[in-house]
Amino acid sequence: MAALDPNTYEWPEGFLWGSATAAAQIEGAAHEDGKEDSIWDAYARVPGAIAKGHTPEVAVDHYHRMPDDVRLMKELGLSSYRFSTSWARVKPGDREVNQAGLDFYSRLVDELLEAGILPWLTLYHWDLPQALEERDGWANRDTAYRFRDYASAVYDALGDRVTHWTTFNEPLCSSLIGYAAGEHAPGRQEPRAALAALHHQHLAHGLAADLLRERGAQRIGITLNLTNALPNDPADPVDQEAARRLDAIWNRAFLEPLLLAAYPADFLEDVRAHDFEALVQPGDLETIAAPLDFLGVNHYHDDNVSGHPLPPGTPPGVRPDVNPTSSPFVGSEYITFPRRDLPVTAMGWEVNPDGLRTLLVRLGREYPNMPPLYVTENGSAYEDEVGEDGRVHDAERVAYLRAHLSAVAEAIEEGADVRGYFVWSLLDNFEWAWGYDKRFGIVRVDYDTQVRTPKDSALEYSRIIGRVRAET
Ligand code: FCB
Repeated sequence: MAALDPNTYEWPEGFLWGSATAAAQIEGAAHEDGKEDSIWDAYARVPGAIAKGHTPEVAVDHYHRMPDDVRLMKELGLSSYRFSTSWARVKPGDREVNQAGLDFYSRLVDELLEAGILPWLTLYHWDLPQALEERDGWANRDTAYRFRDYASAVYDALGDRVTHWTTFNEPLCSSLIGYAAGEHAPGRQEPRAALAALHHQHLAHGLAADLLRERGAQRIGITLNLTNALPNDPADPVDQEAARRLDAIWNRAFLEPLLLAAYPADFLEDVRAHDFEALVQPGDLETIAAPLDFLGVNHYHDDNVSGHPLPPGTPPGVRPDVNPTSSPFVGSEYITFPRRDLPVTAMGWEVNPDGLRTLLVRLGREYPNMPPLYVTENGSAYEDEVGEDGRVHDAERVAYLRAHLSAVAEAIEEGADVRGYFVWSLLDNFEWAWGYDKRFGIVRVDYDTQVRTPKDSALEYSRIIGRVRAET
């Protein structure tokens, strides 16, 4: 079948066209108006934790430039904006509510509504108050109850205007990668704490979802980063087993408690040595499986998985972050890497739009009670250059965007219930442990002047959106 052209495809009525960001990556003002350290502020002070010693202190100064940034979204024609609220701003030190912090989000929501843009709010995009980390962070079950209190404070302030509530962004990263691989804040390498974090984040999701529902939130969901785990050699049982383990811990350990109120049996077996089941108390799974109105899917690339050690002389392109000794995959000895016949982005991630199509189609087929799907993140980092005309002609990002939108269209044609797409990211920003060098924005940010310049990818996205808007 010829690829569907995102510019001419008949997108379903009401399809949401969005862009996504996260508080710690864009806001800056890290210690202003009462905000205190999040784990990312603290982690950035650990020598060597973040590339070039970059910090989220100033980021792209969105805290001070918010009205201009919303104006830019409006000019691009976005119908929704996915952002996160910062727990450490709303409840610094997880103590009392900080009105100045809430006021910022309240103004943001007003600006968005005024501009005709649907606010798509995420409560947790990785930035736990450092004060809670000092009490063992997500390894402490009590943090789940603290999260519910924080959710309640945000709902009190914004529930009259925000309809779409996402509890967590990519809990896999904020549990396993932060607490076992140690590559993200808080930088711990403790497999049992990582599994505790995983379960406690699920619990926190369920507790908050219940509370939000009771208070009258209209749409409640969660965003997961899901992958297609493919055996490097499909005929090799060692690679097949490695792919199964990755699928269990990366996808099903998240999907199944949420959708089926149970952890997968093979995952429980894989993590038995860490006494995972002792963490799960009676009633937890019922809480976790609170009804979902949507599932957010973040997808950047598939994972090619092998259970064999990397052969000596393996060519570059293998993800440096996946080494069996600091593996997020708790006790597993396998590696994932890009397919070698595919191009890669500046992150070293393979470019494989068909993986997005496959994933979206699979999700509805494998889980009959799957709620509507939204692609809440997809995008690419490239080594952008500013041309003599002052513009960024990011042809690779344009091609990535078009190909992935085409894959979404194909998934819809195959029956996937996809209701929206949020490109990552609106602006170049603080890319976690990689600092500011990896640029994912469709809008360039000059980090010296904070000037924003839409790249060609922003203009192309705007054209695609504009056509749809003009017709609906
Ligand atoms: C995702 C994160 C997001 C961004 C992209 C590139 O895992 O949710 O904040 O860093 O990756």
